[in-house]
Amino acid sequence: MNKLKGKIVVITGASSGIGRSAALDFAQRQVKAIILVARNNERLTEVSSELSGKCESMNFGCDVSSKSEVKQMARDVLSVYDSVDILVNNAGIGILGKVADQSIEEIESVTSTNYFGMIYCTKAFLTSMLRKKSGHIINVASLAASFGLPGLAAYCGSKFAMLGFSESLQHELYGTGVSVTVVSPIGVKTNFFHHQSFGNRFKSKERFYLNPHTVSGAIIKASTSNRLEIVVPFFMRGGVWLKHTIPYLVNPIVGASFRKIVEGKG
Ligand SMILES: NC(=O)c1ccc[n+]([C@@H]2O[C@H](COP(=O)([O-])OP(=O)(O)OC[C@H]3O[C@@H](n4cnc5c(N)ncnc54)[C@H](OP(=O)(O)O)[C@@H]3O)[C@@H](O)[C@H]2O)c1
Repeated sequence: MNKLKGKIVVITGASSGIGRSAALDFAQRQVKAIILVARNNERLTEVSSELSGKCESMNFGCDVSSKSEVKQMARDVLSVYDSVDILVNNAGIGILGKVADQSIEEIESVTSTNYFGMIYCTKAFLTSMLRKKSGHIINVASLAASFGLPGLAAYCGSKFAMLGFSESLQHELYGTGVSVTVVSPIGVKTNFFHHQSFGNRFKSKERFYLNPHTVSGAIIKASTSNRLEIVVPFFMRGGVWLKHTIPYLVNPIVGASFRKIVEGKG
């Protein structure tokens, strides 16, 4: 049975990469409508044209780090659809740089997009989900939700926070019919690393990266799962387990290899 048939789905960060791929995958599953959210309207229009004929779609040029823009977007969505069934909090950015070298504004922009953006969208749609006694929130975190990496403190902090927030929320939602699942991928071939701060530092690693379609497949799986976290690829769950079990052995290895990359020697 196709459990996603007829569902209303909101995807943030839908203008490229994982979000775009998730939109195409949900459309294949006969959902009723997909609401595409990101800042770049032109790219959203391209994605919605790819959905045409498969399901209804709406585009919202909205900065998820702006509370007022998210509130307005949610008001507009809920004036058309009574409730949303699936919210994919996927919008996110990374800026490479040591804490000592980054500006407070850079750290704030990563935190407010990745962490507060997820909270604003969750708050905007949760009440209607609770009223309907059904719904699923999917938060796209990262393996960086389990490993603190040099050069990515703000990013890792935002993803650790996302995982912690989601775990608490999952407990609070027990018995309500509303669920939350975190999808945590390793590196993915998207525009994510195009931010100027990365330069070419991660270029040589690209061959190991996942295709966005692999991650959007996990998002589809997450939308009907009762698990808290789905790690992609699944075997990296072993890496997370090792890190938590023997951090004094794993952390120095992770730290040394990422320090090389940050310093441009990796
Ligand atoms: N690529 C990786 O290696 C990787 C690994 C693990 C986790 N992730 C996570 O996956 C998610 C998606 O990233 P991606 O890899 O698909 O990168 P991407 O291709 O750069 O996509 C990021 C998306 O987020 C949107 N976005 C960024 N800031 C926004 C804001 N303030 N408001 C609304 N939308 C915003 C972007 O659209 P606009 O620019 O149009 O706003 C874009 O649609 C992120 O949360 C990222 O942390 C990525």
